[in-house]
Amino acid sequence: MTVSSKIQILRTVQQVRQWRHQTLINNQSVGFVPTMGALHQGHCSLVAESIKENDKTIVSIFVNPSQFAPHEDLNNYPRTLDRDLEILSTEFRNKPVDAVFVPKMSEMYPNGIVLEVEKQRGTFVTVHGSSEQLEGVTRPQFFRGVATVVTKLLNIVQPTRVYFGQKDAQQCVVIRNLVKDLMIPTEVRVMPTLRESNGLAMSSRNEYLSKEMKDKSSIIYRALRKGEELFNKETKLHHKKSVESKLIISEIADLIQQDPDFEIEYIAVSHPETLEDLGEVKPGLGAVVSCAVKAPKENSNELTRLIDNIILN
Ligand code: PAF
Repeated sequence: MTVSSKIQILRTVQQVRQWRHQTLINNQSVGFVPTMGALHQGHCSLVAESIKENDKTIVSIFVNPSQFAPHEDLNNYPRTLDRDLEILSTEFRNKPVDAVFVPKMSEMYPNGIVLEVEKQRGTFVTVHGSSEQLEGVTRPQFFRGVATVVTKLLNIVQPTRVYFGQKDAQQCVVIRNLVKDLMIPTEVRVMPTLRESNGLAMSSRNEYLSKEMKDKSSIIYRALRKGEELFNKETKLHHKKSVESKLIISEIADLIQQDPDFEIEYIAVSHPETLEDLGEVKPGLGAVVSCAVKAPKENSNELTRLIDNIILN
């Protein structure tokens, strides 16, 4: 028996419903961590939190096609199921993950799915207002796909709590909004971004970077921290009632631009709940400062997009 075969693997909606039914009979809370696989320490920290806060924990592994645009090469997304199951069964020895949901495409999209939005048929979930800006500018169908699959998964699992990482700040806002608007009885838990020792936010995309570029990419977090330092200096030391967003943005941009390897796609200062652009940041109300920066992939002429964010209070 391989280590991973100890985990209960559920493949159909019906199997998850039966599993959940049993937890309801036993009056057990259920924590749920949705993933697309290629698990790293960031995912593990979400699982660890779920295990801590709930009687039972279920993880899903499903590469969701509807959040990819036709040009985004869904086929190249890393699929590492055996390794993922190995991680889930070895990382949490004291209180293991209870079940992993690994559905087939036909289970999640019984009517089939094509990537061209205009050709899609069936029900899709769009969270208007928080899906179009920031990441939504370059990936216009991304949050529609995420919102759709997360709604399906929450309806299947019906968890007490669901776990996401703060690194994907906009995804967290979109999901909070959909859970509220569609009256889904699940608590959304957002966990802090897990970072490499140099500050780089953990991400599956870091695998595209050379060792040297991984080291250099710490500039993104250092720059965000400079923006935060400026905000703290102005509001806490100089007792200013607000700080103009453009000052924070240029503080961040100045540092990143010092290294010609990096290309800034956006730096934004947004309302933490609506993601509306903020002209100024006031202490107490706070803001999310987010950015997308392109860095060269190892042994390739292509660039990869790295995203990160920091919360100002
Ligand atoms: O963050 C992710 O890995 C995905 O967007 C999610 C939430 C699992 C939906 O496919």
